[in-house]
Amino acid sequence: MCGIVGYIGPKRACDVLIEGLKRLEYRGYDSAGVCVYHAGRLHIAKSPGRISELEKKIAEDPAIQCGTVGIGHTRWATHGEPNEANAHPHCDLSGRIALVHNGIIENYAPLKRFLSDHGHVFRSETDTEVLAQLIGRFCQDGAETLEDAVRAALSEVGGTYGIAVMSASEPDKLVVARKGSPLIVGVGSGEYIVASDASAILEHTTNVVYLNDNEMAVVTRDSLRTMTLDNVPVSKEVEQIEWSLEQIAKGGHEHFMLKEIFEQPEVVKMCMRGRVDLRDMRIQLGGLESVTGALLRTKRLILTACGTAWHAALVGDYLFEDLARIPTEVQYASEFRYRNPIVEDDTTVIAISQSGETADTLAALREAKEKGALALGIVNVVGSTIARETDAGVYLHAGPEIGVASTKAFTCQLVVETMVALLLGRKRLLSQPVMEQYLRELAAIPDKMQRVLDKAEEIRKIAEDYVDRDNWLFLGRGYNYPIALEGALKLKEISYIHAEGLPAAEMKHGPIALIHEGMPAVFVTPQGPTYDKILGNIEEVRARRGKIIAVASEGDEGIRSCCDRVITVPDCPVALQPMLTVIPLQLLAYYAAVARGCNVDKPRNLAKSVTVE
Ligand code: AGP
Ligand code: GLU
Repeated sequence: MCGIVGYIGPKRACDVLIEGLKRLEYRGYDSAGVCVYHAGRLHIAKSPGRISELEKKIAEDPAIQCGTVGIGHTRWATHGEPNEANAHPHCDLSGRIALVHNGIIENYAPLKRFLSDHGHVFRSETDTEVLAQLIGRFCQDGAETLEDAVRAALSEVGGTYGIAVMSASEPDKLVVARKGSPLIVGVGSGEYIVASDASAILEHTTNVVYLNDNEMAVVTRDSLRTMTLDNVPVSKEVEQIEWSLEQIAKGGHEHFMLKEIFEQPEVVKMCMRGRVDLRDMRIQLGGLESVTGALLRTKRLILTACGTAWHAALVGDYLFEDLARIPTEVQYASEFRYRNPIVEDDTTVIAISQSGETADTLAALREAKEKGALALGIVNVVGSTIARETDAGVYLHAGPEIGVASTKAFTCQLVVETMVALLLGRKRLLSQPVMEQYLRELAAIPDKMQRVLDKAEEIRKIAEDYVDRDNWLFLGRGYNYPIALEGALKLKEISYIHAEGLPAAEMKHGPIALIHEGMPAVFVTPQGPTYDKILGNIEEVRARRGKIIAVASEGDEGIRSCCDRVITVPDCPVALQPMLTVIPLQLLAYYAAVARGCNVDKPRNLAKSVTVE
């Protein structure tokens, strides 16, 4: 979880580390720290809270400001509360080796007992310190080099890690390793920057080497060696990061989340570029070419994901069954991995993930592969672990999503699912005229999204008028039922208002008991097969004096008479409606959070990418 950055080169290491850590801030963290080598010793500064606190400490420590090699970390606590002692880097007993770690050392308790029995004293409650001390112990026991000691220690630990290690005895070296948590080495001119995320590297170079699971790298001032954890050399290509720094910056908006909501017409276009082919009237997905035959033989699809990506999977359930007539089910990744799922030869499992690093989704994917399924990925982050471990897949091309609340990745997930469903549907049952109609409608979505975004002011006023209500309901049916769930999740996670999303007809089976005077109920009800049914549900809420906010189709004047507020979206085929109806709900959540003074981009208790179980 969270962030690692390391530097070796001619510059002041602390500057590169702090700037890198700031770039990683968006991932969510609770404390931060750096270690820099100078004049024969390691110098460490750590602080709970924001990186600005860490900067103050560095400003008071001249030695830290001198070194040109160092490591830094933003922590999201798993073992021990977020305080200074538990913040990384952690040292071995001698204080000459320092380590930063993302992930969890699962067998830390027996290892800690063993080390304590052998005279080790621990200064923190973390699992990470156990690994640091273990590495120190192997050094003391005669490991020739730092990398030998790291390798020996890692062979003793279970769990997940991305680590960066340095030693005062071998000061011109960084050792990094990964298993289940990403690590990248940026190759600059005369310098290397290691990081858990490309955004910490981009300022310096776009040339990177991606480590795979069970690999490590030894970086010196003028060399980079990569090998497996068993010390078998691995030769690596230097690859290019395609995202630019401007793409990462806020682009003039007050928050990343707002920028990302407004980017949706553009990124959805990027997502469709070269894939929705209006000339030959077909879908082209290069990433699936190698598996098209196997996909067509698929008898059953399982979509697995977490959070917002799971909501996208729920929409996918409708899309794949409707457009391709393939029996589809959706599973929470966290449940799938432990339920001994039935996966047959002709089952295809699709993992959906913005980050491509979500631990539960990755584990579900591995379980599916273990059982022989064809494993596909719908992932945003290029080169992420899920993307690497799937047999094939389709990238979202949504650009970096920095806001912790997922928005543009969600709409791109819907677009990719639609493209895959159409590709398979056309080969199975869809006629060419129907296909052509869908392709034209898909291509028209970005402009229609813009028309919804143009209503932002109107939506802001609605959010402000109801922001004092502590409980909200979100209701929808069919394709818009997952959108109701997503609307409720967005509101909860950034404004801390309690909200529940439901298929509208389920309300009468229990949740209707919650409705009281003034309680907002958001109905996602554009024109479609269940429109008339939803009107009945609206009346049920009205009868109990709830407040009705409807997301309805443009031109639906009739609905105004039974609603307190109406936000309209342009017409489109029912299967594509979620791409439009979700936008007012994203904006509603955003403006409610701003009105409540919440930290929109970094909501409390949340992290952008949940790489622990
Ligand atoms: C989205 O707003 C959430 N913060 C969260 O539910 C997220 O969608 C989930 O953790 C899955 O992340 P992923 O798409 O990176 O796998
Ligand atoms: N498990 C480690 C800790 O609690 C690392 C957590 C992280 O990934 O930031 O310190």
